[in-house]
Amino acid sequence: MQGVENKVIVITGASSGIGEATAKILADNGAKVVLSARREERLQKLASTIGENAIYLKSDVSNAEDMKALIALAKEKFGKVDVLFANAGTMPGGNMSELKVADWISMVDINVKGVLFSMAAVLPEFIAQKSGHIIVTSSIAGTKSVPGNAVYSGTKHFVRAMLDSFRTEAVMEGTNIRTTTIYPGAIKTELLNTIAPSETKTMVEKFYKNVGLDPRVIANAVLYAISQPDNIDVSDLAIRPSKES
Ligand SMILES: NC(=O)c1ccc[n+]([C@@H]2O[C@H](COP(=O)([O-])OP(=O)(O)OC[C@H]3O[C@@H](n4cnc5c(N)ncnc54)[C@H](OP(=O)(O)O)[C@@H]3O)[C@@H](O)[C@H]2O)c1
Repeated sequence: MQGVENKVIVITGASSGIGEATAKILADNGAKVVLSARREERLQKLASTIGENAIYLKSDVSNAEDMKALIALAKEKFGKVDVLFANAGTMPGGNMSELKVADWISMVDINVKGVLFSMAAVLPEFIAQKSGHIIVTSSIAGTKSVPGNAVYSGTKHFVRAMLDSFRTEAVMEGTNIRTTTIYPGAIKTELLNTIAPSETKTMVEKFYKNVGLDPRVIANAVLYAISQPDNIDVSDLAIRPSKES
């Protein structure tokens, strides 16, 4: 494996859960990390824990200008970008019949448009340097139908289809851009916090409490994908508790 030392890695959704754990593990292995999320105090704390190999920008993935500013900051402070980990996401949940249209729009803005805006910001760099790696957090919900979570599942199917199509385009264009789609199952993070109280929420919380995995499991998968030699594309990684169907 070639490792991650001195690679510049932009991480969206770095203020908690999978993004935070990944930032720590990548930095522990010598990477320079560029942290993005909306909760600035969380980013500040994480960056100061990591030290000089971390910078951050309070930024919203649903704002294309914020994503451009994030990539510009990475270039200004660290001189280049090697990897984008497009990880920010939200999962308010609920049946379609509940008509929570504001939640549907918010999931599309963050889980779909957020990934696209971060890719749009970084692609000109990757194309010009003829190298790069885009990692996106989909979900096991992006691989099957999930009643009670239809719009979320749809957003995670979208990123799967989009990134795999992009991977093929990159091969055809010869840009040397690698892609990895990560499909986590139940991981103990703050993701369930935005689900409105209900019987279903209580059941899901119990399941996560009993069998949910530590976010470092996903962080190590990201480390594995990035660490491969340039001629290896770890395109898909599904990781779930052994007790999750
Ligand atoms: N936990 C699981 O079981 C699981 C399973 C499958 C997939 N996933 C996916 O994993 C990814 C990370 O989630 P997590 O589980 O680590 O949950 P989390 O702890 O809630 O983290 C979500 C992250 O996304 C950020 N975020 C949300 N909206 C944002 C916005 N508009 N702009 C910028 N950042 C935003 C949050 O930061 P701010 O609020 O500070 O902006 C936070 O850092 C998500 O894409 C999620 O769908 C999680």
